[in-house]
Amino acid sequence: MNLYNIKHPEEQVNFAQAVRQGLGKDQGLFFPETIPQLQNIDELLALPLVERSQKILGALIGDEIPADKLSAMVKNAFTFPAPVAKVEDHIYALELFHGPTLAFKDFGGRFMAQALATVRGDGKITILTATSGDTGAAVAHAFYGLENIEVVILYPKGKISPLQEKLFCTLGGNIRTVAINADFDACQALVKQAFDDTELRQAIGLNSANSINISRLLAQVCYYFEAAAQLPKAERENLVVSVPSGNFGNLTAGLIAKTLGLPIKRFIASTNANDTVPRYLKTGEWSPNATVATLSNAMDVSRPNNWPRVEELFKRNGWSLSELGSGALNDAETEAALKAQYAKGYLCEPHGAIAYDVLKLQLKDGETGLFLCTAHPAKFKESVERILDIELPLPEALDKHNKLPLLSDEMDNDFAQLRAYLLK
Ligand SMILES: Cc1ncc(COP(=O)(O)O)c(C=O)c1O
Repeated sequence: MNLYNIKHPEEQVNFAQAVRQGLGKDQGLFFPETIPQLQNIDELLALPLVERSQKILGALIGDEIPADKLSAMVKNAFTFPAPVAKVEDHIYALELFHGPTLAFKDFGGRFMAQALATVRGDGKITILTATSGDTGAAVAHAFYGLENIEVVILYPKGKISPLQEKLFCTLGGNIRTVAINADFDACQALVKQAFDDTELRQAIGLNSANSINISRLLAQVCYYFEAAAQLPKAERENLVVSVPSGNFGNLTAGLIAKTLGLPIKRFIASTNANDTVPRYLKTGEWSPNATVATLSNAMDVSRPNNWPRVEELFKRNGWSLSELGSGALNDAETEAALKAQYAKGYLCEPHGAIAYDVLKLQLKDGETGLFLCTAHPAKFKESVERILDIELPLPEALDKHNKLPLLSDEMDNDFAQLRAYLLK
């Protein structure tokens, strides 16, 4: 697989390099030089998730990774289902929250961990990352138990929810977690300082397992095929997919699926009040506002870092951005959407509720709608319980960790201490 840096197309790398490096020169994103057209989509859709995903990823990545290795990577990464649930006539939910950390990030994170373990070369690897909550859990669970990969996660002590903390600070093994006596920005600054320290970087093989890594996106492509596979055949014909969007990685993956030949009529980018993209699509003007806090906080992004990849795909496929649907909901509208879903017998959370409502507003006669549910309702327990006036039991995956003791170390906001800790 050949990839180029969107900012500097002369910088070209293969899959292994793109996975190891994460980003190109000037923070440029890597993008596949070609995306093949898959034949016999119906036959592909008839296969089970893992087998089908092995074929899709094999076609994308090519022979750079031997087929048996790639198969093992996919099998180890995709260990949980992505069921489609019917919400009402012609409207379906794709549930991406049945993995170990109950969020869609489990697909991309787990495949990235497998990819990195495969292409790492010799030498030690240390994944260092700062988290304000969810990313830490996805990274910790994805890399847990992988040989010769150490993971160190920094988080602000007392500033993430106790439940979030339990989910990734109870694993042990190759996962070390450090509660820093400072805020999240300080944690991020410590991580940055570590990456700026060339000697340290080389000594411990620092890697960021960054969310922009191409391996994550490729993994996410597979669940769009899984959704189509589960829909009744007649409902696949005029399929419209609504994607709750923050950094637009999920939408990019959907567009790659369409480029591969998956028959999706159109996409809708659904956002909260951080609506840079819906405004851009209406006015042609890119004018991000200051980011505002919303109920769907994982989408509180006003400068989506995957947007250049979306534009690149439209340009290369000769598609017009006018074909991309979009819509934005404020918090009051999000609450109303969540209640409307619940009244139909479907329990969701704010991100999925936004994708549902924007879809409903824009779906035309004769079309089938699918919206992505990116997190388990229990991950947004407080708001869901308040809005719906219900009590949500903890799902097994959360409850299990909740009962375990915390294994975190504690540290002041002091780079010298962190350096010594990393070298230990
Ligand atoms: C629950 C949830 N929904 C939606 C999104 C948005 O996804 P993307 O950043 O790929 O647009 C995120 C991103 O972190 C998320 O955590």
